Formats: sequence, C-alpha cells, structure tokens
Amino acid sequence: MTTVSVIGSQWGDEGKGKIVDILAGKAEMVVRYQGGNNAGHTLVVGNKKTIFHLIPSGILRPGVQCVLAQGLVVDLKVLCEEIDMLEEAGVPGINNLTISEKAHLILPHHIMLDKLREQSKSGSVPVGSTLRGIGPCYEDKIGRRGIRIGDLYQVDVIKPNLEATLEYWRPMLEARGEVVPTADEVISALQPYADKIKKYVRDTVSYVHEAVEAGKDLLLEGAQGVMLDIDHGTYPFVTSSNTISGAACTGIGMGPTRVDEVVAIVKTYTTRVGAGPFPTELDDADGQYMRDKGAEYGSTTGRPRRCGWYDAVIAKRVTRINGTTRLALTKLDVLTGLKELKICVAYELDGKEINDVPLHGLERVKPIYKTMPGWSEDISGAQSIDDLPQTAKDYIQELARLTGAPILLVSVGPDRDHTILLEDLYSK
Ligand code: GDP
Ligand code: IMO
Ligand code: MG
Repeated sequence: MTTVSVIGSQWGDEGKGKIVDILAGKAEMVVRYQGGNNAGHTLVVGNKKTIFHLIPSGILRPGVQCVLAQGLVVDLKVLCEEIDMLEEAGVPGINNLTISEKAHLILPHHIMLDKLREQSKSGSVPVGSTLRGIGPCYEDKIGRRGIRIGDLYQVDVIKPNLEATLEYWRPMLEARGEVVPTADEVISALQPYADKIKKYVRDTVSYVHEAVEAGKDLLLEGAQGVMLDIDHGTYPFVTSSNTISGAACTGIGMGPTRVDEVVAIVKTYTTRVGAGPFPTELDDADGQYMRDKGAEYGSTTGRPRRCGWYDAVIAKRVTRINGTTRLALTKLDVLTGLKELKICVAYELDGKEINDVPLHGLERVKPIYKTMPGWSEDISGAQSIDDLPQTAKDYIQELARLTGAPILLVSVGPDRDHTILLEDLYSK
C-alpha cells in the first residue's frame, strides 16, 4: 500500500483539485483533513467543470472511498448542497462518503464575526477572508467552545454547549449591532442537514485505519497552500489552519510514518487572492496575460487573483517544511506566448541579498530574477516531456532544480487529459 499526501505549495489555487482527481484514478481512498469551504477545487472532465468546496476531489472516481476527516470545519448547508449536486448527477462515489463526527461546525455567529473582522470592527487585521466563517470556527475550536458534528445527535450536549458559546460572543456581537440567534434557533435550522448527513457520520480514525490495515492506497488532499499556513505562512495574512503536509497527521489521526510520498502542487507562476505580501507580483501586461490566459479568478469568491512570477525562494523553503518528495507542476500552458520568463532566485532587503523568507519586511523585498527564454508553440496536446519545446523543458527543469524535488507530472491544461504523468506512485 502507498499513502500519498498532496498539498498546495504557494498561496492556494495551484490546481490541487485537478491533480487529486488524476491521482485518485489509482487510489482507493481520498481524505480531506483541514480548512473548510474557503477552498475551491476545480475538476474538468470532458469539458464538464465541477467545483468542490468540501467534498474530496476523488469523488468522481467510481469506487473511491471519500472521507472528510476531523481537522475540517464544516458548513452543513454547503456540504448538503454538494451532496445534492452529486446525487442529482448520479455520481456513484457519493455512497462511499464518510464524515468525521469530530469535525467542527461552522455556525451563524462565525460568519458574522468574519464579516466584522474584515470591516476592522473587532480589532483584527482585514486579510481578504473568503467570509465563510473559517477563522472564527477554528477560534472556537481552539478556545474549547466549538460544536462538533457528532454533537448534533446529542441534544443534552449540543444545547448547553451552544448556549455557552453564544453567551461568550454576545457582548461583542451586540455591541456591533448584530442579532445573536438563540441556541434553539440554530439547532432547528441545522436539523434537516443533520438528518441528511447522519448516514455518513462516524469515527473516521477507525475507518481510515481499517483501510490502511487492509493495504489500501490512500490519497490525502490538502486545501489552501503552505504560504497560507497559520504557523508557516505570511502571518497574519493567512488562513486559520495548518496547511503543510504535517497537518494531515493531526487532521486525520495518522502517524507521519504512514505517509510515503508528499506531492507539492506548484503553479509554474504564482497567484494570490486576498491581502498580504507577494514579492513577485506583477502589476503590468505580463500579470494581466497570466490572469486572462489562466482564468485566474477565485473558484470560491470570483475575485481576480493577483499574478506574478515563480518565486523559488518561497518554493525552496516550502520543500523543506513539507518534506516534499515530488512536484506536480501546473498551468505550464498559461505561460505559452510570453517572450521571457522570470524566476525569483533571491531577494534584496534593505540593501542586503537574502535567500530565505524573512520574519518582517517581505512586503518590501526586491526580487532578484533569473531570466529564461519562453516559447510560442501550443503545448496543450503534449503527452510526454519530449513533446514540449526545448525552452519549456529547460524552464521546468530549472524550477525543479531550484525547488529541490523531482517532477512527478506536468499539467498543460485544465482537463484530465491535459496531463503528462512521468511516474505511477501507486504500485497496484
Ligand atoms: P485548487 O484550489 O488548487 O484546486 O485550484 P483551483 O481549482 O482553485 O484553481 C485552479 C484553476 O486552474 C482551475 O480553474 C483549474 O481548472 C485550472 N487548471 C488546473 N490545471 C491547469 C492547467 O494545467 N492549465 C490550465 N490552463 N488550467 C488549469
Ligand atoms: P484553495 O484550497 C486561495 C485565502 C483568502 C484570504 C486568507 C484567509 O482553493 O487553494 P479565510 O477565508 O481562510 O479566512 O481567508 O486565505 N484563502 C485562499 N486563497 N485558495 C484557497 O483555497 C484559499 N482559502 C483561503 O483569500 O486571503
Ligand atoms: Mg482554489
């Protein structure tokens, strides 16, 4: 058996959905373990586009068991909408869905708090949140005030706990003009969703480990990207969960010794949605070219993504943090037509050259670039590395060298078929 962990290695939207769908073609179980519906993972299969915010991107592969593990924060309405969509489309995988009883619930006050924070009405820095209530939900979890999915089925547990949580937030919410719902109102609004998902809910630790013990091939699907990690990202312009490969261990309940491969999904340029430093950001025609050609608009919020050159300083650090063993390079086709490509190989900060990400001042660094020639040939039909122009081959080899891991695959378009897979990670 093999367990492969897939993580985003920039600021999200690297193409995780597409790559998980590709690798899930051989896997037997796909597990999501952190974040929530701030994620937007896009799959394109034969011209049909599907975006998942919560359901694992392996769900379109028949026979694959999909798991939402306990590290997630779950908005039940969004989850039920995704289940409805899959049921209506007759996707068989939906019968193999399992949801952890320990995942925390996103509640109405979390969404209210997110909104107030983005308006700077609560002393927090606006970060360009997706406003899905993710941060406040994790805050209640860490503050030991959270409500878990399994609590929905235990009235004597959920009611007093929810009342206490709402009382905790009441002064701050009411002072800012919000109407705090009663625990009964919240519980009865959740009831239809709780009924709908009940058949999927269980202890996912035993479920996942039964699969491990049966020798199944697993795929662990990360959301967001390492530079959005609460500990390792560009704090405070980050999300509220750990997004690095190690987060799979806590979010699922699996020892690090069980993970065989860590695949870092790397866009061959860089994008970011929301606020925060971005050294290689382009505010020019090249950046607009990437946005237009790469359709760089958020899958969750529709916001235009900020675009820029590949940042190998960040990439190298991310390889260390994740223990990356393989790279999945995405969106190489988007760069077709650019005469020259730049790769950031170091920064200049206050007159000094630096080769790592500083604690402070990332918004002030000047990137030091290496320039490489581009290509103009259409590469979207490439089936092997040899089908790529020499300049494209040189570019990806240089990215891999600077990033510090070998290439597993190169993605040259949004569809499943637009993929050059160099190696099969699963032995079966
Ligand atoms: P995720 O959050 O990492 O799953 O990425 P998103 O789905 O938010 O954004 C990636 C976007 O790029 C989606 O619209 C994908 O369909 C698209 N995409 C993925 N790989 C490629 C590729 O190699 N080329 C092109 N042109 N688009 C791609
Ligand atoms: P996927 O999985 C890109 C960003 C938001 C914001 C910051 C905090 O599709 O790659 P939050 O709603 O988590 O409080 O927002 O994090 N962000 C993402 N950016 N892709 C994502 O997910 C993201 N999830 C959160 O834009 O800057
Ligand atoms: Mg996305």
